[in-house]
Amino acid sequence: MSMTATDSEHVLLDVRDLNVSFDSPDGVVEAVRNVSFKLDQGRTLGIVGESGSGKSVSTQSIVGLVQGARISGQARFDGRDLLMLAQPELRAIRGPGIAMIFQNPMSCLHPLYPVGWQIMEMIRAHQSVSRSQARLRAIELLGQVGIPRPDVRVDDYPHQYSGGMLQRAMIAMAIALNPRVLIADEPTTALDVTVQAQILRLLRHIQEQFGTAIIMITHDLGVVSEIADDVMVMYAGRAMEQASREALLRRPRHPYTQGLLRSRPQADSLGRALTSIPGQPPSLIAGARGCPFQPRCTQAISRCATDMPPLAVLAADGNDPHRSACWLTQAEDAP
Ligand SMILES: Nc1ncnc2c1ncn2[C@@H]1O[C@H](COP(=O)(O)OP(=O)(O)OP(=O)(O)O)[C@@H](O)[C@H]1O
Ligand SMILES: [Mg+2]
Repeated sequence: MSMTATDSEHVLLDVRDLNVSFDSPDGVVEAVRNVSFKLDQGRTLGIVGESGSGKSVSTQSIVGLVQGARISGQARFDGRDLLMLAQPELRAIRGPGIAMIFQNPMSCLHPLYPVGWQIMEMIRAHQSVSRSQARLRAIELLGQVGIPRPDVRVDDYPHQYSGGMLQRAMIAMAIALNPRVLIADEPTTALDVTVQAQILRLLRHIQEQFGTAIIMITHDLGVVSEIADDVMVMYAGRAMEQASREALLRRPRHPYTQGLLRSRPQADSLGRALTSIPGQPPSLIAGARGCPFQPRCTQAISRCATDMPPLAVLAADGNDPHRSACWLTQAEDAP
């Protein structure tokens, strides 16, 4: 997206040149490299890529959930750079400003406390409301996310909920404070396709109702095609391709995106990623040369082994720029 004045008014989250690295016994692990993205109000950004491509680290690092890393860049939210904030300030933003939904509900829910009680405590940690007001709100939220008989189920313990209900309860907790940004990190990966479709519908409904901006992290381009407005394809910590959903699905430009599209699971009812791009993602230890996808790329040219292509704007198909980090697509696009 171009940075005109009118655009920037709607940009809720503006991440630029994000780099995240970890020290390891083998050297510096470069988990995220020069990643930039924007999120507008009421829109959904899909972040796609294979396991280890840096999807979780690139979002968790901006809300202070990555420990022991070196983080640089900018993450502007609400007029402030999140990367400059201390933990207490970030804690105040997590929840009402930016809320998270994770793949595993039990990472957010304690097994020994009733589900509703946990939602109430979360509300009371951020808002001065009475216990009975918080309880009513918890019941309302559980109803909103489609838990049947929420006035009764509010007192259930997590083990009394099914997997799909737990996922909904976690979404209820995430939306309890009307967050402006919802980061959903593989929220449907563990669920069967029917429940997965229900959860995606629920997220879309929440977005329509509250104008929530969503970051949907997934390894499944099917989920992206369902819900995303814009897409960032990540590989080895880098953004390899960025485009609107329409442009990306109509004409994927990067060989990695093309590979992901070809390897889309068609009929796996468990929703597993069936990777059919031969080969393995590379090591992220600093010092590698060339394009990280080159060893697996069927279209690689000699330059790919030595120089990393920049993420360049291609001739736009529509209004939004389409970016790809590939020497081939840039050559195709040369005037
Ligand atoms: N605390 C850490 N110390 C060292 N390396 C880490 C740490 N956390 C993450 N990494 C590395 O950063 C890279 C990116 O991890 P990340 O969790 O973001 O991948 P992902 O795309 O979310 O994968 P998945 O689809 O499996 O969730 C991985 O290689 C991972 O091993
Ligand atoms: Mg992850």
